[in-house]
Amino acid sequence: MSLVGERLAVEVGPVAHGGHCVARHEGRVVFVRHALPGERVVATVTEGDADSRFLRADATQVLKPAEGRVEPRCPVSGPGGCGGCDFQHVDLAVQRELLGAVVAEQLQRLAGLEVDVVVEAPDHGDGLGWRTRVGYAVGDDDRLGLRRHRSHDVVPVDPCPIAHPALADLTSLPWPAVRVEGVVSSTGERLAVVEGARGDLPSLDLHGVVDERGRHVSGHDQVTERVRDRSFRVSGSGFWQVHPRAAGVLVDAVLDAARPAPGETVADLYAGVGLFAAFLGEAVGESGLVVAVESGGRATQDAEHNLADLPQAVVARAGVQPALDHHTVPPEVDVVVLDPPRTGAKAKVVRAIAARRPSRVVYVACDPAALARDVATFAEEGYVLDRLRAFALFPMTHHVECVALLVPAPE
Ligand SMILES: C[S@@+](CC[C@H](N)C(=O)[O-])C[C@H]1O[C@@H](n2cnc3c(N)ncnc32)[C@H](O)[C@@H]1O
Repeated sequence: MSLVGERLAVEVGPVAHGGHCVARHEGRVVFVRHALPGERVVATVTEGDADSRFLRADATQVLKPAEGRVEPRCPVSGPGGCGGCDFQHVDLAVQRELLGAVVAEQLQRLAGLEVDVVVEAPDHGDGLGWRTRVGYAVGDDDRLGLRRHRSHDVVPVDPCPIAHPALADLTSLPWPAVRVEGVVSSTGERLAVVEGARGDLPSLDLHGVVDERGRHVSGHDQVTERVRDRSFRVSGSGFWQVHPRAAGVLVDAVLDAARPAPGETVADLYAGVGLFAAFLGEAVGESGLVVAVESGGRATQDAEHNLADLPQAVVARAGVQPALDHHTVPPEVDVVVLDPPRTGAKAKVVRAIAARRPSRVVYVACDPAALARDVATFAEEGYVLDRLRAFALFPMTHHVECVALLVPAPE
């Protein structure tokens, strides 16, 4: 029997990974969105039936608010609304406390480590207007929107308050397409990546329009990003960090943890368009070597272009696992930097890295659960977590970026 729509009065417990808090009702776990730890709320069930191990619910009425609750700045966030943001109802400082608690809990539960995680805020703004890459769904009326939480329904947004202001006009016009990604680079170039176009696209002042495969439709098919004193070419919807400060902040954190020295050999795994490889390459100099491994074809071409002035940087178009297995990554490396997708690197890759006995492993992670699992595997291979930094680079959402330094365990 479905329990959807049931209203449960619950005491809200700790935050959990995924943008919700944990409550209990008659012994059963309820994952409650739009709540805060310590609150008493009416949680309206959104998923689950009488036999479910756990229920999902939205806090639809706050009976006792917690400190840190604020009025959401987005009209379509909240119960039943857009699934893009998780913490619009939370003060930014408390958002960071929640993110830190999640990272600590994942490390504790999955890697058995007690770590006090303080989440740094590179952005002292109001948490809005930061997102430089937004993938919009298209509704039946061709209006752009974002998906309702755990649903295919499209909630129109015009504009999305966390989107960069330079993308605001995209949502004001209809797009006869299946999906539209808006991109604005740090140099101010705007690109639309349009999937499944089936008619005339709106005429906007854009740097370029490309299709979902990155094929040119009009104007340019790539943008230029700037970090420190370097330029990076990024094609179509190729990967680039979404917060305007993220690339710079992460480069600083990676270099700080990796401490690359002239003449050293470094592997940059999951290298994208060569962001970290470029600065690692500068640091090791011409007597050193950086091997950047990336599987995406366009990203590899961009990386070759972006690293062309650094003869010590080599780009390998390969999967990370085969690159490690077939010695594209040399058997002796001083430093390994890895920045895998959300699923993490997984055990085989971790073991192949550890087998090379690098003196520093710098792990850039967008998912704390995947990071914790991989840290546990590194521990089995004799590596310890030396340092961990966490950054609030996705305000209003449950996402958090971590940079971990792993080193060989002392003898
Ligand atoms: C999180 S991005 C990191 C990119 C880069 N470090 C940056 O900060 O711009 C992950 C990258 O890994 C690539 N990738 C995903 N799976 C891969 C694999 N198995 N082997 C090699 N590259 C992979 C993706 O194409 C993407 O460019």
